[in-house]
Amino acid sequence: MSKFFSFVIFTLIVLGANQCSSKDVIQLPVPTGKGKVSVEEAIKNRRTIRSFASRAIKLVDLSQILWAAQGITGEGGLKRAAPSAGALYPLDLYIILGEKGVEGLKSGIYHYFPSQNSIERLTDKGLKVELAQAALGQMWIAEAPVVIVITAEYERVTGKYGPRGVRYAHMEAGHVGENIFIQAVALDLAAGIVGAFENSKIIKLMGIPASHDPLLIMPLGYQKKR
Ligand SMILES: Cc1cc2nc3c(=O)[nH]c(=O)nc-3n(C[C@H](O)[C@H](O)[C@H](O)COP(=O)(O)O)c2cc1C
Repeated sequence: MSKFFSFVIFTLIVLGANQCSSKDVIQLPVPTGKGKVSVEEAIKNRRTIRSFASRAIKLVDLSQILWAAQGITGEGGLKRAAPSAGALYPLDLYIILGEKGVEGLKSGIYHYFPSQNSIERLTDKGLKVELAQAALGQMWIAEAPVVIVITAEYERVTGKYGPRGVRYAHMEAGHVGENIFIQAVALDLAAGIVGAFENSKIIKLMGIPASHDPLLIMPLGYQKKR
């Protein structure tokens, strides 16, 4: 075998060891359409929580939260849980997990695919501490077992609506954020919300496309009991 081919094979092995393979796509449990807490109770009990127990959440609960945020809810797979101007869906959800993030899942950064009800692990780097530092040093964020980052790709809406599409994407992120909050309460979980961070730092450290503008960071987990 020539030196060139030996080098190519060696490089592929090294790259393979450091990157995630297709095996890192996780099919999520089917979300439920029934809960134990009324909408009124969930709204009443919703608070921004900034203190989390170091306990992993269940995979079924992560699935339910992601469904409430952006899951497919109707019209042949075309409509989602939160409204979207022109049904163009400019938002993406990224999930950052630490060591004790979600039962059965490895730490890392994951991307949610609503139509497949699955998540894909993009990297094994958890980076919650770095994320908290990029959020003006709000270190409570790193305490949460799960951190959801909502991003917007404006091109998906500005093509139809022009510059006003940017505003629509921001509004939509608010809907998604509230759905996450309400679903978290209904599952006896707690969520926080963070808008104060340096966008470019978050994009860089997460390694996501530069066109995916982070709008909201939502730490999630069990509230720490006093
Ligand atoms: C767009 C937005 C950005 C926010 N950013 C932060 C933040 O960076 N850090 C923080 O601790 N709270 C943040 N909050 C939470 C607010 O401080 C909180 O919603 C407010 O104090 C009302 O409390 P409640 O959510 O518990 O009702 C943000 C809320 C919103 C809606």
